[in-house]
Amino acid sequence: MERTVVATGPEETQRVGEQLASRLVDGDVVALVGELGAGKTTFVQGLARGLFIKEEVLSPSFVLARTHEGRLTLHHMDAYRISDPEEFTEVGLTELLPPERGVTAVEWADRIPQLIPPGALWVTLTMPTFDRRRIEIRGGRTGR
Ligand SMILES: Nc1ncnc2c1ncn2[C@@H]1O[C@H](COP(=O)(O)OP(=O)(O)OP(=O)(O)O)[C@@H](O)[C@H]1O
Ligand SMILES: [Mg+2]
Repeated sequence: MERTVVATGPEETQRVGEQLASRLVDGDVVALVGELGAGKTTFVQGLARGLFIKEEVLSPSFVLARTHEGRLTLHHMDAYRISDPEEFTEVGLTELLPPERGVTAVEWADRIPQLIPPGALWVTLTMPTFDRRRIEIRGGRTGR
């Protein structure tokens, strides 16, 4: 998949995530990249909405991972506080990369590149202006 859109406002960022959610299947990994405040969590909130998750999706920075149930289970992880990928391995989080069941969204995926499986969807967010986000989606398993 290869798609680039410019989202004006958080609601649009969520809508792009929501659209991607409809195409996700068990075992998918969504690897999010973008500086502080780029909109990674906002995008995952859209994914959650698209997966019919009712629970509120918050930043998992302090807990490393949260799980939400919807059309598919969403594992939401954050590698921001990770200084060494070993930490992810030690707490068993590599089991979710990829997950056997459900999908995994990882914020700051570029901090643990060696743990992101081939076939992951890479979502890169940049801020061309304070009120806009450029969202580039690429990768995914072949044939989709
Ligand atoms: N398209 C957009 N235009 C303007 N603001 C946006 C857009 N998308 C998201 N935002 C806003 O950007 C701010 C940061 O969003 P968010 O918390 O999702 O970023 P993040 O990348 O997860 O940050 P962190 O690095 O701290 O985890 C929020 O106030 C959010 O509403
Ligand atoms: Mg975040």
